[in-house]
Amino acid sequence: MYMIIDKEVDIMFKWKDNFSVNIKIIDEQHQELFRIGNALYSIISIKDGVDRYDEIMKILYEMRDYAIYHFDYEEKLMKENGYLDFENHKRQHNGFINKVKSIDELDIDEKQKKIGIELVIFIADWIENHILKSDMEYKDFLNSKGVM
Ligand SMILES: [Fe+2]
Ligand SMILES: [Fe+2]
Repeated sequence: MYMIIDKEVDIMFKWKDNFSVNIKIIDEQHQELFRIGNALYSIISIKDGVDRYDEIMKILYEMRDYAIYHFDYEEKLMKENGYLDFENHKRQHNGFINKVKSIDELDIDEKQKKIGIELVIFIADWIENHILKSDMEYKDFLNSKGVM
């Protein structure tokens, strides 16, 4: 008799080839946010009632680090190449940074699941409206400048 063990874990954010901006390092950085989002999703999906404060804080620090190195990288490329929508794009990046900063550590302590879900939704919205829209808008421009 066989025992069927379902080891498949729900993956919230799945990378697809058409999400690529055809710039290798940026694609890798964007994939890192997918990884962070999936890690957070799996943490908040566990229903064992165990305290996840440290794990959620770790994710929050990863989001902060991501924002610093990824946005710096993108903004530098846009600026160097004279991308016209630079200011508007940077404003969106600052919105992400402010969101991450606005999360109160004490709040996480008390309302882990609520904040975890809120952050997953925030990442989903960011992927849909920033990575797949605003970032996609610089793709052809930067590619045409030889950035790949
Ligand atoms: Fe980006
Ligand atoms: Fe961006």
